[in-house]
Amino acid sequence: MTTSDVRALPLVPKNPLPIWQLVKLVRRLDTGQEVIRDAGGPITRIQFGPKKLFPPIVAVMSPNGMRDVLGRSDASSERCVYHDEVRDMAGDSLFVLPNEQWRPRKRALQPVFTKHNVRNFGGHMSRAAQMFVDRWPDGGDVDLDLECRRVAMQSLGRSVLGIDLNERADIIAGCMHVASSYTADRALRPVRAPRWLPTAARRKARDAVAAMKEVTDDLVHACRADPDRDAPLVRALMAARDPETGQPISDADISNDLLIFMLAGHDTTATALTYSLWVLGHHPEIQERVAAEAAALGDRELTPDDVPSLGYTVQVLHEALRLCPPAAGVARLATRDIMVDGYRVEAGTLVAVGLYGLHHDPTLWPDPMVFDPDRFSPENTKTRGRWNFLPFLGGGRPCIGEHFARLETTLALATIVRAMDIRSVDAEFECEVPFTTVAKGPIPAHVRPRSPR
Ligand code: HEM
Repeated sequence: MTTSDVRALPLVPKNPLPIWQLVKLVRRLDTGQEVIRDAGGPITRIQFGPKKLFPPIVAVMSPNGMRDVLGRSDASSERCVYHDEVRDMAGDSLFVLPNEQWRPRKRALQPVFTKHNVRNFGGHMSRAAQMFVDRWPDGGDVDLDLECRRVAMQSLGRSVLGIDLNERADIIAGCMHVASSYTADRALRPVRAPRWLPTAARRKARDAVAAMKEVTDDLVHACRADPDRDAPLVRALMAARDPETGQPISDADISNDLLIFMLAGHDTTATALTYSLWVLGHHPEIQERVAAEAAALGDRELTPDDVPSLGYTVQVLHEALRLCPPAAGVARLATRDIMVDGYRVEAGTLVAVGLYGLHHDPTLWPDPMVFDPDRFSPENTKTRGRWNFLPFLGGGRPCIGEHFARLETTLALATIVRAMDIRSVDAEFECEVPFTTVAKGPIPAHVRPRSPR
């Protein structure tokens, strides 16, 4: 489509909701999308004030819209204010680099995160999950949120950093929470204080990042000093080369990437697991099926080789990622006028890609609130449109950790449900969305071992 063709298209229709309501809804990154979509359709424009002061926001929640924003290989969309805030806090990493600088880094890192290669560093989740369920009571209550966060952190520590975090896990999790809440809060404000202003919140966030960076910097130095140190992912990053130029990744950038892998991987994996367990805790018959599938493999530790035999467990995970996508939405900046689902999106627009709205659209998912893993049966998956289900995004710049996260969550879910019968206490899974989706408070469940210990 030529530039003049795009200019001839109508602008995305303006959302009819009053501004005061829209201001509230855009901060509610998950369920807010549904209200915005129901009022204005799956592609709708929000304008908070004069364009010079408030760049337009276009919310995109249709499969064709996803294709038009994410599937493009030209330079028409870029990292946005959120990525800039993370970059300012935590330095250059794969997550934040503008497309031009990102490309060589991605080329170097991609081979490390292939489905085949993640097995070399990502099989730790079974052991971490087993360690936790071994400590669960023989019939009593646990907080699924706390437990899953800890399992995810221990497993990431082993897989990403090659170390046992043990008691440091909670400290790092706390630092990550401070840093990510601060950056997300700033990014979502219509007006931001200048970065040079030394506010208390900013100092706290900087200290939190510095504490995490100390861990990743030390690790990179330790691996350089000791070639026998067992840290397969760090080694893989050190060995990585841009296949076009042969350039390695600098140690400072490796350290930044390790930090971002922890940040991007912790809440997301933990939420996927917590939600899956909570929803299974309300569907005993489906839970039995998951338990039976895992039990058929024996009672040994599950390994990456077992994943192909855990097809139903994977269906459950997919349905959980549909209902509660840990990244409810992402954003891009349109760098020139583009066509999105038949409309014109102007240069300078913040394009809000609504994965929650997409995954709950009743025209794509009948009875969208019903938990039904059969939606992801092989037959149903075959006929589904490519852009209807995007928990890890898609197109040119998707989640690099997708295979790793799938491996980890499948092994953890199968390990936990094989060992324990879980009954959820609360009828609702309350969450909040500082940026990624996380449980709002404890998620209590009664647990009981499936066989005597
Ligand atoms: C269930 C778990 C996960 C989900 C749902 C998820 C989802 C996503 C999504 C939607 C994006 C796009 C963000 C954007 O463009 O603004 C993303 C990017 C990213 N994710 Fe994940 N993620 C998960 C786990 C992980 C893990 C375990 C890692 C660590 C290895 C990871 C590392 C990254 C990185 C580095 C990016 C930026 C990629 C790039 O720009 O090239 N993610 N993820």
